[in-house]
Amino acid sequence: MNVSVTVPVAAAPAAVDEGALRERVRTLLAARDAVLVAHYYTDAALQSLAEETGGCVSDSLEMARFGHDHPATTLVVAGVRFMGETAKILNPEKRVLMPTLEATCSLDLGCPAERFSAFCDAHPDRTVVVYANTSAAVKARAHWVATSGIALDLVRHLAARGEKILWAPDRYLGDYVRHQTGADMLLWDGACIVHEEFKGLELEELRARHPEARVLVHPESPAAVIAQADVVGSTTALIEAVRTLAAPRFIVATDRGIFYRMRQVAPDKELIEAPTAGRSATCTSCAHCPWMAMNSLQNLAATLEHGGPEIHIDEATRARAFEPIKRLLDFAAARRRIVYGNNDA
Ligand code: 13P
Ligand code: SF4
Repeated sequence: MNVSVTVPVAAAPAAVDEGALRERVRTLLAARDAVLVAHYYTDAALQSLAEETGGCVSDSLEMARFGHDHPATTLVVAGVRFMGETAKILNPEKRVLMPTLEATCSLDLGCPAERFSAFCDAHPDRTVVVYANTSAAVKARAHWVATSGIALDLVRHLAARGEKILWAPDRYLGDYVRHQTGADMLLWDGACIVHEEFKGLELEELRARHPEARVLVHPESPAAVIAQADVVGSTTALIEAVRTLAAPRFIVATDRGIFYRMRQVAPDKELIEAPTAGRSATCTSCAHCPWMAMNSLQNLAATLEHGGPEIHIDEATRARAFEPIKRLLDFAAARRRIVYGNNDA
């Protein structure tokens, strides 16, 4: 990666009365006309609360869509900062709260806006497509925002129009999309510190011990891991694979927070974490995003109690960042209509 990123060490959780905190959050959500929007990688306690209170647990694309469509005046986003910023960019009239603003993402940190802007200036002939895991300032420089759930379709669409693409920040996802689509893509050199740790060689050995297992891989993983996948896709696509494939056992190369939803949809299937530590190495994030792990019941309750921390974005940046995100949502909606033939979808 061309920008160094410091990985935070998770603090030991303090003892809490979980039942009382959950009740407090339920009450405060209702009192503040707020809805909880959580990512699949957050703690199971937060995911279940979002489900129970009429909120949403999903991938980053659906989080954006849900927050945009929901009538609540306050969105509480449990995830990482770019998810809260995306919610604010789409909904300037709503309050967007997060349990902590410290929860960032190595892809976001690895793509500072000024350097990225200079990169774009150096390649004015290219359509700029940025992954959702970026700051508002980086999105403001883009023509399109993409998530892992839509990246292949979007790049195919742009390539079919003869467009050359500048892709940022995840080089593994970019490389995968380039390989699948044959598009002309220039890649920024960023990576997810969680997915980058999955190991190809050790995965081969694990597969040999479980020949009946299907391998599910998030495309932020290295090519040697993706090459062994039965299914490559967004968090939603991987959950869908566990639900629908007949195999009794799955090796999963993504954050283990996703196991909560996978166990809900397929309680009888066995889930195995893909290996993150090589023979002579130990893992740093060990298949769990240190920034997603900063979201807890305690700081969620405190956020609702105090009405903050809140996401603020200056209006000029927000308005510029709105365009490529809106393009993404419109593209996703049009695709859904084509796939399902439903004009209301
Ligand atoms: P999804 O869009 O697939 O949920 O991915 C978001 C993310 O941060 C993966 O590491
Ligand atoms: Fe970012 Fe990786 Fe964490 Fe996803 S898992 S939020 S890409 S650091």
